[in-house]
Amino acid sequence: MRVLALSGSLRAQSLNARVLREAARLAPDGMDFSFWERLDDLPHFSPERDEDPLPPAVADLRARVREADALLFCTPEYIHAMPAVLKNLLEWVVSSGACVGKPTAAWSVSPSLEGGARAQASLVHTLEVMSAKVVPEASLCLTLAHSGLDGDGHLRKQEQATLLCKALRELSFHAS
Ligand SMILES: Cc1cc2nc3c(=O)[nH]c(=O)nc-3n(C[C@H](O)[C@H](O)[C@H](O)COP(=O)(O)O)c2cc1C
Repeated sequence: MRVLALSGSLRAQSLNARVLREAARLAPDGMDFSFWERLDDLPHFSPERDEDPLPPAVADLRARVREADALLFCTPEYIHAMPAVLKNLLEWVVSSGACVGKPTAAWSVSPSLEGGARAQASLVHTLEVMSAKVVPEASLCLTLAHSGLDGDGHLRKQEQATLLCKALRELSFHAS
């Protein structure tokens, strides 16, 4: 099963990107992870730009989403919502229909006590409007600071690793 992992952060030391790497390490057998890391290459969406030839990053994004069996988003929370760059990504995907019916997990990671729950809710809402098949059992909000990951990027708390494993198993179940 091919999982495409997409982080909503542009930061080099992003917690969300690092959690996606940790998810790939913890993933059950049969789950193959790839990462889409060209968020910063996407132009601002405008319907007038949504025509051939598409910007290269947009064409690549749509192809990668289309060929994935499942999607895993992991988003920071900025001002109580998903970051504009992630919403911009979704605006580029929507008219392609590549997300329709696609099993999708929506994760948020934040140092706050709520773990970015409002960003996750805004992400889920948008994905549902796009007719992605959001899997609630595979979605989570994780309270995590940089100290929650060790030098290798592994989660220090076993209960958080267990949560991730459970979410990934649910995604695998709903995508097969
Ligand atoms: C402009 C700005 C707004 C933020 N707003 C929120 C917020 O509303 N809720 C929250 O939990 N964290 C907020 N944060 C903190 C981020 O969750 C934190 O920086 C997180 O590490 C970003 O994710 P990343 O490490 O993947 O880049 C904000 C950070 C910035 C820079």
